[in-house]
Order: sequence, then structure tokens, then C-alpha cells
Amino acid sequence: MPQGFHRGRRLRRTPALRDLVREHSVDAGDLIQPYFVDELLDSHAVSPIGSMPGQFRYGEKALVDEAARLADAGVGGVILFGIPKEKDAIGSQGFAAEGIVQRSIAAIKARVPQLLVMTDVCCCEYTSHGHCGQLCGEDVENDATLRLLQQTAVSHARAGADIVAPSDMMDGRVAAIRQALDAAGFPQIPVLSYAVKYASGFYGPFREAADSTPAFGDRASYQMDPANVREALREAQADVDEGADMLMVKPGMPYLDIVRLLRDRFPHPLFVYQVSGEYAMIKAAAQLGWLDEKRVALESLLAFKRAGADGILTYFAKDFASLK
Ligand code: PBG
Repeated sequence: MPQGFHRGRRLRRTPALRDLVREHSVDAGDLIQPYFVDELLDSHAVSPIGSMPGQFRYGEKALVDEAARLADAGVGGVILFGIPKEKDAIGSQGFAAEGIVQRSIAAIKARVPQLLVMTDVCCCEYTSHGHCGQLCGEDVENDATLRLLQQTAVSHARAGADIVAPSDMMDGRVAAIRQALDAAGFPQIPVLSYAVKYASGFYGPFREAADSTPAFGDRASYQMDPANVREALREAQADVDEGADMLMVKPGMPYLDIVRLLRDRFPHPLFVYQVSGEYAMIKAAAQLGWLDEKRVALESLLAFKRAGADGILTYFAKDFASLK
């Protein structure tokens, strides 16, 4: 018998011992549930999203009922994505005072004021071409798009949003949004920047859900190259310099190295987005009986906490209580 070797199993022997030495945990309050609110639906209707089993598009009133259930379950908050009745070249429904997201924010706040409401600030759900900004030829025009993003963020704050989260990846957007919010009388509203957002194939189901697939080309001229690590530091630094209060990495599971990198380099609250494709993979494998859904869903959420995320945007949030 070798003497004095490490007996790691001593502390794994019973559930109580394992509880005692556990380093990380996930709470409902760490999670943010993304919701799709659809102006084309009857207000009380819900419509299932084919590639995201268990997720729905909601009519406005149905969304409010759902938000009330979510608040009861102790989930940290929601992030809203709108599907407008009408799309146009500049996505003007994205910043309309009576747009679907603006109305939904106000309706949720009237019913469950304590529920944290974040908004996604971007143009792609509202533009007829599906790109994240205003086009000039086939290119997204950065600086013209900043003006649209400013109007969108201010319209969300005016409707009662607690946090605005720009996901468009235009340069200078955090500074532009910060300036617009301050000028409009919303200096207290924080910006959660999707600072490090990769041009990812894992967004596929979302684009079906939000009806936002680009009509031509792709998003590679504004979202980041999945091959890059150092670039993530530059993007995060730029957003911090521009006044971002919180940072986000997206997608999640394939980019845990980036989550850890930002955790070590920035003291800011850090979020990660477990995107539609990550959710769809787990659901699909579970439906085939190949994976234990509850177990791997929880394991994936724990992995984000272990990598250093403070909060997680995930489609598993609304069913979190049933995963445990
Ligand atoms: C808007 C936006 C997207 C997602 C969040 N905000 C789509 C995209 O960039 O194509 C994806 C979220 C998901 O896949 O769950 N730009």
C-alpha cells in the first residue's frame, strides 16, 4: 500500500460531505429568461417554436401572465425580444413608443413591478432585411445605426425597462446609448453590453423564433470571428471605456474560455448567454433519449458559474425549479 497519497474520495463519500465542500451553485435568481413577444398573435395566444421545444412566442397579455408566473418562481428577470407586425428598412418599430416591446415592458411592470426587465437593443427583429442596422448598399452602416440604437434604448427606458442590453455589435454603441440615456433623463439605467458576441451558428433557432434571418449575407462583418480570443479583450475594454456597467459573452458553452478570461480581467458583473442552439441541442438529444435533460441542463448552468459568470441568460430559466 502506498502511504500518504491523496484520498480525494474521503470528501465525496456521502451527500452531506459533498454538500459541505461544493464550490459553486446555481440559484433561480442568477437566471434571466428570454421571451419572444409577437404582435402578430392574438394577445392571449401562445405559439410553440419548433426548433426550441418548451419555448413559445407570446401575445402581449399571455406574456404578462407568464411573467407573473416567472416572478413567483424567483427567477432573476426577463429579456424581451419583439416580433413586430410590420418591418421596414430601418426597423422603425424597434423604437416606436407604442411598439410591441415598449407596450410589453409597461404591461409587465404594471402587473409585476418587482420583476427585473431587460431589453435587447438591436434592429434585426425589426428590419425587413434582417440585418442588425441600417444598410448602405449591402453593408450595415455603423454610425447611422448608432442613432437607431440610441432611440431604441431610450424608448425602452421610457417604457420602464430596468436594464438595456445592446446586441448589435456596432462600434461605439455603448457610448452612444449611454449619452442618449443620460440626455433623456435616464442616467440611472445601466447598460449590459453584449461586449463579446461571436458570429455563431448556434443562433439558428433564435432566428427562426424571431423571424430575423438575414435576407442576404451574414453577420460576420459586425459579430466576432469564433477563432479570436485577444479580440474579446479589446471589445470588452472598449465597452468598459464607453461606460458599460456589465459585460456579456455570447454564446455560452463553446466560449467558456472567454467567460473565464473576462472574469479574470474585469471586475464588472459578468453575464453569459446560453443561446438558442445550445438549448436546442440538449432538448433534441433528450427527446431521442440520448441525454438526461435535467441533469445536463443543470450541469451546463453550473459550468457557467464555475467559469466565472455572475448571471446566465438561458431558456432553461423558466423551468429551473423542475430541473432540481
Ligand atoms: C439580436 C440577437 C440575436 C440573439 C440575441 N440577440 C440573434 C443574432 O445575433 O443573430 C441570439 C440569441 C439566441 O440564439 O438565443 N441581434
